Amino acid sequence: MTITVIGHGYVGLVTACVFADFGNDVWVIGHTKEKINRLKKGDPIIFEPGLSELLQKNLKAKRIHFTLDYQDAIPHSEVVFIAVGTPPKTNGEADLSAIYTVARNLAYNIKKPLVVACKSTVPVGTNQKIAIIINRYKRTQARIFTASCPEFLREGSAIYDTLHPDRIVIGADSKKSIDILIKLHQPLNGKRIITDIASAELIKYTANAMLATKISFANLISFYCEKTGADVETVLDAVGLDQRIGRVYMNPGIGFGGSCLPKDISALIQIGKQLKIDVGFLKAVENINNHAAENFIDKITKTVTDGKIGVWGISFKPNTDDIRDSPSIKIILRLIQLGYIITAYDPAAINNAKKSIKIIKYVNDPYLAIKSAKALVIMTEWNEFKQIDWKKVKQLMQQPLIFDGRNLYQPATMKQLKFRYFSIGRKPI
Ligand code: UGA
Repeated sequence: MTITVIGHGYVGLVTACVFADFGNDVWVIGHTKEKINRLKKGDPIIFEPGLSELLQKNLKAKRIHFTLDYQDAIPHSEVVFIAVGTPPKTNGEADLSAIYTVARNLAYNIKKPLVVACKSTVPVGTNQKIAIIINRYKRTQARIFTASCPEFLREGSAIYDTLHPDRIVIGADSKKSIDILIKLHQPLNGKRIITDIASAELIKYTANAMLATKISFANLISFYCEKTGADVETVLDAVGLDQRIGRVYMNPGIGFGGSCLPKDISALIQIGKQLKIDVGFLKAVENINNHAAENFIDKITKTVTDGKIGVWGISFKPNTDDIRDSPSIKIILRLIQLGYIITAYDPAAINNAKKSIKIIKYVNDPYLAIKSAKALVIMTEWNEFKQIDWKKVKQLMQQPLIFDGRNLYQPATMKQLKFRYFSIGRKPI
């Protein structure tokens, strides 16, 4: 099948590469010449495990093509996926301008019947507006069939998630869309949810809001633990054994970040306000998330009043170079404001971090980051932080003091190693 994917971010490019790998002929449309040229040469632009290899393999097989021009792709395609960004506006609402620009561009270039499936996270009613725009501006009688086909992949495991979906959601109001999307997803396992467009659009927000809620709930319990002397990991492990609750995705820390959960919670709050729904619950999820970072900053500033701090981890989670809405960035900025001198290390995110924070020192070795530091602050749970030469760390630091924002280590082990060790929801050592 010939398909087009509009957008080449995490969702667009991974979707395109996976469908190409299944043997489809895939066009990817972008709007920046420099990026399209890099993609044509096999450079995925973004850091995502396995993506470079998958892209190069399918370029070589001539199953994936990149263009700036809708004319190259749309007239040949049976399905087009919209996978452009819906970033937050200053009031928290989702900015849909890229979606509507794409709808117009599609309209001008439609020559034959086309299924237009939206993968971007969009408020209920957006697909209806996409249909209205395309129908208003199209220059032929060719029919379009809209569908909502939300994506549930996570950065850092995007290819794995795309290949092993828990469910494939197809929201559509025509047999044509449903049939073609079922056919396209045939190589994938996962339960098929065939539904109306509004439900599909809301499924994505609901999933992300629930995930954010689980994290904020874990962080809330960590605050109780810190005030009462209880141990958050033990509490959550025990509670998680109840199969109705579960333990997954309930790791307390410095708060959720990234380009999805924070923006989707704030968009859902705005949607709720417009619909006159009480958004207090979602606001609490957001407030707890902010408080998780504040609480961590407090721990640091109450223990070390000034001097050099070594930071491990800048990306919003491991296995990505993405720093969008990263709690680490927020915390570093506050520490700078308070006069601390920061040296930071991250296995992948330094180049991106440099664009956002210029006034700190970046190093390419975790041990260099803690040289003569008064404290080590850990903000991302990269695997390489799990096996550390603690003797070396102690020798390099001014004092053996660690603030672990991801509960990477056992307090008992840190005690044995004679570190002062602060973590999340567990007694300081
Ligand atoms: C999230 C969802 O998990 C995906 O299902 C969804 O498709 C995606 O958003 C999207 O809307 O496109 P992602 O933002 O890539 O994926 O990353 P997550 O693994 O969900 O992590 C988000 C944040 O939550 C990270 O900052 C992470 O450190 C934090 N987190 C996650 C916790 O603090 N505790 C946890 O237990 C899990």
